[in-house]
Amino acid sequence: MQTTRSHSVDVHVTPADLRAAMERDVRAGLGAAQKWLPPVYFYDDRGSELFDTITRLPEYYLTRAERRLLEAHAKEIAQRSEAGTLVELGAGTCEKSRVLLDAFAAAGSLERYVPLDVSESTLDAAAAGLARDYAGLAVHAVVGDFHRHVGAVPTGGRRMVAFLGSTIGNLAPEERHRFLFDLDCALDAGDSLLVGTDLVKDPARLVAAYDDAQGVTAEFNRNVLRVLNRELGATFDPEAFLHVARWDAVAGQIEMRLRSTTDQVVAVEALGMALSFADGEELRTEISAKFTPGQVEEELFAAGFVVEAQWEDPEGFLLTLAAPYC
Ligand code: SAH
Ligand code: AVI
Repeated sequence: MQTTRSHSVDVHVTPADLRAAMERDVRAGLGAAQKWLPPVYFYDDRGSELFDTITRLPEYYLTRAERRLLEAHAKEIAQRSEAGTLVELGAGTCEKSRVLLDAFAAAGSLERYVPLDVSESTLDAAAAGLARDYAGLAVHAVVGDFHRHVGAVPTGGRRMVAFLGSTIGNLAPEERHRFLFDLDCALDAGDSLLVGTDLVKDPARLVAAYDDAQGVTAEFNRNVLRVLNRELGATFDPEAFLHVARWDAVAGQIEMRLRSTTDQVVAVEALGMALSFADGEELRTEISAKFTPGQVEEELFAAGFVVEAQWEDPEGFLLTLAAPYC
């Protein structure tokens, strides 16, 4: 653990771990007949900055809708949870967390904030800022993977785990079940879960949120190719791939893809791979599931949680407070 005067950082994922996972994922995903990549590799420093810009785009209603919900209900959430520790998974810049932290500060119960994220530099900067602004709050950052390190967050006292921004929608259905089940196992009686989920709505609004007029989401999407070029010596020309955002009504998810604009071969030197892309072939880079309130309740129940409250924003976003039922 690395400790500064203001906050501490536990590192469970080193750059070497990330690189090994990336090698495994790239072999599996880009070696498949229908090519895919997991979304975790978007978030190098540039990707995290691009995501931050996305959250302020007019088309991307998710962040402002969730912030409004937090502003309206954080006081009740803090009072109901009575948590001494707030854990936040995929915390990123921790911007919206400040709304929760203010409410917890007013309720007087919170002693510790534990943001967990795979992106070390973003997390470290955010944790330092929070430790500066919330005197008396212990900020204990965890650099980790929320699929693997939920069990490694500090225990003791009542905890509330927040998983905001609809990041849970970036997990495939079976991954979501596994993730929630593991989380349920890691929690104790009296702990709680606050989860933010985007809701099914007019497909045109959904697609616009993932294909903005300024092209920021397109750059965010292509950024994953730059990451592979830098980390694995790949030879992607990002400009030879078109950003695609498509609504899959059957699966209930937006899919982001990169479509090759020509027949091309891309080398991944570190893995000795030569990948052929046909003109028009698509590489899936992200799914972003959209839910109904009932579906969220069912998925939580199937993993061991009972819903205590749900709040819905008029722009079509949902906050759910739940508790483990065993
Ligand atoms: N919660 C913030 C940020 C969402 S962006 C918000 O609501 O605005 C998604 C965040 O999850 C990024 O900061 C990214 O680095 C992190 N992330 C993505 N996959 C992750 C994983 N497997 N483990 C931990 N963090 C992850
Ligand atoms: C982090 N996650 C919930 C975002 C989403 O909406 O699925 C990532 C994103 N992808 C494109 N724009 C934003």
